[in-house]
Amino acid sequence: MMRGLELVFFAIVLVLATLQVAISHGEQPLSRIAVHNTRLRLSENADIRASPSILGFKGQNSEWVTLEYASPNPSNDDWIGVFSPADFSASTCNPDEGSKQSLPFLCTAPIKYQYANYSSPGYRKEGKGSLRLQLINQRSDFSFVLFSGGLANPKVVAVSNKVAFTNPNAPVYPRLAQGKMWNEMTVTWTSGYGINEAEPFVEWGRKDGDLMRSPAGTLTFNRNSMCGAPARTVGWRDPGFIHTSFLKELWPNSVYTYKLGHKLFNGTYVWSRVYQFRASPYPGQSSVQRVVIFGDMGKDEADGSNEYNNYQRGSLNTTKQLIEDLKNIDIVFHIGDICYANGYLSQWDQFTAQVEPIASTVPYMIASGNHERDWPGTGSFYGNSDSGGECGVLAETMFYVPAENRAKFWYSTDYGMFRFCIADTEHDWREGTEQYKFIEHCLASADRQKSNLG
Ligand SMILES: *[C@@H]1O[C@H](CO)[C@@H](O)[C@H](O)[C@H]1NC(C)=O
Ligand SMILES: *[C@@H]1O[C@H](CO)[C@@H](O)[C@H](O)[C@H]1NC(C)=O
Ligand SMILES: *[C@@H]1O[C@H](CO)[C@@H](O)[C@H](O)[C@H]1NC(C)=O
Repeated sequence: MMRGLELVFFAIVLVLATLQVAISHGEQPLSRIAVHNTRLRLSENADIRASPSILGFKGQNSEWVTLEYASPNPSNDDWIGVFSPADFSASTCNPDEGSKQSLPFLCTAPIKYQYANYSSPGYRKEGKGSLRLQLINQRSDFSFVLFSGGLANPKVVAVSNKVAFTNPNAPVYPRLAQGKMWNEMTVTWTSGYGINEAEPFVEWGRKDGDLMRSPAGTLTFNRNSMCGAPARTVGWRDPGFIHTSFLKELWPNSVYTYKLGHKLFNGTYVWSRVYQFRASPYPGQSSVQRVVIFGDMGKDEADGSNEYNNYQRGSLNTTKQLIEDLKNIDIVFHIGDICYANGYLSQWDQFTAQVEPIASTVPYMIASGNHERDWPGTGSFYGNSDSGGECGVLAETMFYVPAENRAKFWYSTDYGMFRFCIADTEHDWREGTEQYKFIEHCLASADRQKSNLG
């Protein structure tokens, strides 16, 4: 939910989504699973198998797997959880969490789930079913678990073989953002390569011109960077490494190609595929500039998983529509309530995969909403728990914004005839505050020669 966004502009805003308050139905589907109640009830006659077991032979970062499963005591509340890493038992629990004796069998939520009868209506009678699920490369292998007992009293009945992408560490899901200067583009991406393993960089240049390489900085964080549960407990998942490279002194409006690279210390290069973008217009440029602004989009799974109550089903349609219209879009502002991960970190990878076609092609500028930031006692203006313990860390790390201090999510960016002043509704904006001064200055310093030629 966004509470305000100030814009000074003279141009065409194509789509202004209605910013609806999304509190009442704001339940993260993964939160319905009572992870700590899980018990082990492996059954010899139950079985679950996944194929293929190796994914991404041709460098793809997304693939479908087929599950075949059987249970001697089938029920309509049997469900299948997808775990990543594939070894999900209590040995991977946070050691701080409770005494050793009382460690739960399971301490991590699955990255997604689906009912066993979803595409096999006969499952309850026949005790056999099959299901197709889409996986994205998320830096780890996967396993699939057949549960009985519904989401409230999960009992592990069968565990599948492991499935993995050929290179789980591969650089993935680039997202562009305006840099601090109008002629600078930033590229942020995720990989499994830390700074002790490889040097991250972007190889880029004008279409048909020489290529150059720009180094990238690397960020990550750990469980203790989270402010509370579930982000610190069952929703925690290793975020890998998030890299940002700054492509400077771009020619306005020129088309550039780029690819993500990691040079391993033994000399081997690992590459992403090639992407391209058009450099931003120069300040004051009198041309049509097409801006899309929306909030509250969320994420969804193309295979229908996780979404038993149709929560956010529409986000895939919105994404698809944006991709279809991409030739008519120059820059996107997603002004808060990004993916409603609400402390289930796996959802951020899935979101960056979902918007990759958009974010890798045009600047994808985000702002912070209550679902990214709010957590009691951590400096958010509203003291509710809507971020699920993320307290802004995921939003400010997974996406770049040209803020002076990324923990304070306000910034300005000049784009052709626009000056955008992006406020942060989750930090105090009242008269006399640091943010108030920023907003005042941002609006007062807008150059009307550039932003209001009309
Ligand atoms: C599948 O299971 C769900 C959850 O228990 C139930 O609501 C639904 O009616 C079942 N579908 C079929 C076709 O039996
Ligand atoms: C370098 O290390 C990578 C990852 O461990 C490995 O796949 C690759 O074969 C190695 N290359 C050489 C030349 O040793
Ligand atoms: C998404 O689009 C499809 C096809 O146009 C439509 O049938 C479906 O109802 C849409 N879903 C939502 C949630 O709007």
